[in-house]
Formats: sequence, C-alpha cells, structure tokens
Amino acid sequence: MTSATATGTPVVVVEDVHAGYLPGVNILNGCNLVAHKGELIGIIGPNGAGKSTLLKAIFGQVNVRGGVVTLEGDDITGLKANQLVSRGVGFIPQTNNVFPSLTIEENLQMGLYQRPSAYAERLEFVTGIFGELKKRLKQRAGSLSGGERQMVAMSRALMMDPKVLLLDEPSAGLSPVRQDEAFIRVSEINKAGVTCIMVEQNARRCLQICDRGYVLDQGRDAYTGSGRDLLNDPKVTELYLGTLGT
Ligand SMILES: Nc1ncnc2c1ncn2[C@@H]1O[C@H](COP(=O)(O)OP(=O)(O)OP(=O)(O)O)[C@@H](O)[C@H]1O
Ligand SMILES: [Mg+2]
Repeated sequence: MTSATATGTPVVVVEDVHAGYLPGVNILNGCNLVAHKGELIGIIGPNGAGKSTLLKAIFGQVNVRGGVVTLEGDDITGLKANQLVSRGVGFIPQTNNVFPSLTIEENLQMGLYQRPSAYAERLEFVTGIFGELKKRLKQRAGSLSGGERQMVAMSRALMMDPKVLLLDEPSAGLSPVRQDEAFIRVSEINKAGVTCIMVEQNARRCLQICDRGYVLDQGRDAYTGSGRDLLNDPKVTELYLGTLGT
C-alpha cells in the first residue's frame, strides 16, 4: 500500500492506552495507533520512549491499565500470547527470537504448533520470501549469523499466517548490508499482504519504507503522518531525526 492517508480497514487499533511494568508507574501515557489492512507502520522515537512497550501492550506482555487494543474490531486487551497468536498476531521480539538448539525446520514447526497440518503450504509461502532457508532446513539455528537468525525469526512468525506482524527493531545489531536486507525483507513481507508494525532505531530508513509512521515520546504518540511527511517535518527532524539513524 502506498497511500499516505489513514484510510482503509483497521486491523489493529490502540486507543488511549496506559500501561506499565511496576505498580503506579506508567510507561505508556495515553498512546494511540492504527494499522490498516496492508499497511506498513513504523514506530520511532528516543530510547526509553516506550516503543517496545507499545508492541508488548499489543501482545499482552505488559499490564494495560487503561484504554483498549482491538484486532479487526475485537477487544484483545490483555489476552495471553498463545490466544493472540491463534487470533493472528505475530510478534518478533528484538532478541532471543529463535530457538538456538533447534534446527531451522524445527523452529518453523514451532511457529505452527497450533496448525501443524498447514506446514507444507506455509513453508512454501515463507521460502518464497526467504528462499535461502530452503536448502538449510536441517541447520541448527544457533549456528546462524545475526541476520540469518532474524530471517528465521520472521519466517517462524509468518508460519501462522498472521493478520499483523509486530517487529521490534529487525535491523538492530546487524552490519549495514544486513540492515538494508532486513528492511527489504520487511517490505517484501508487507508487499505479500501482511500488515506490519515495525519499531526501529534507524528512524530515517524506517520512515523511507513505511506507509505511515508514529513518533513516540514519553509514552505518547507525539507525531504521526506518512513516512515522507514525517521525514520532511522540521520539528520531527530537529527533535528526533538529528540524533536517530543517519
Ligand atoms: N520489564 C520492565 N520492567 C520495568 N521497567 C521496564 C521494563 N521494560 C522496560 N521498562 C522501562 O520502560 C521504559 C520504556 O522502555 P521501552 O523498552 O519500551 O523503550 P524503547 O522506546 O523501546 O527504548 P529503546 O529504543 O531503548 O529500545 C524504560 O524506562 C524502561 O526502563
Ligand atoms: Mg525498544
């Protein structure tokens, strides 16, 4: 989807969410986000702004104390991870996102534990995007490079045919070439029809490829707009892009 306007069918809606880890301390303070069907949404902002916490709030990993998260109109606030996966929410955390002692194939099977009969069909879909994994299914995930692990993590999440994929800093810790590759892969996943919500440190690169972006600051959505508009917004550039990414 290339449209910069916020139109279409909402897949994920985050409305006025307040959430935190410790009693009485909220990290998200009235945060809002909408991802429409087919969109690639980017979330940027300073360290500690609550970007990862926002993904965790969608994926039931932090206490949501106010507000609501919906998936295709259904309230999913605070559901458990396995319930969210079966409803079509895929989450790729930044670290520890593969099982290193298992082979690539076993990792992919773990991704599909709720629908094992669909394995062949889903494997065809993910190897259509990550063709290089096809010949290496028997290799242990622990022996892969960071970039290759990231591919396995994305593939594993895609096995469940998610309605939305949440990605926390897919380019983090990768060499510049591998970072580029990670962004290209996320674009390809999105072009294959998967709605994506991506948190990124590499703010410029993220805004260049996303349909719409959100700038998070102190647990709130401070700015939102098309990737291009945010890149060209002097306030966003001055406050958030000067120090973020290149
Ligand atoms: N498990 C936790 N328990 C308590 N506080 C936490 C926990 N995880 C995160 N926090 C706090 O929540 C705040 C926001 O953290 P979060 O990880 O969401 O930020 P972020 O925007 O993803 O930052 P970064 O760019 O560094 O990844 C930080 O002050 C952090 O210390
Ligand atoms: Mg984070």
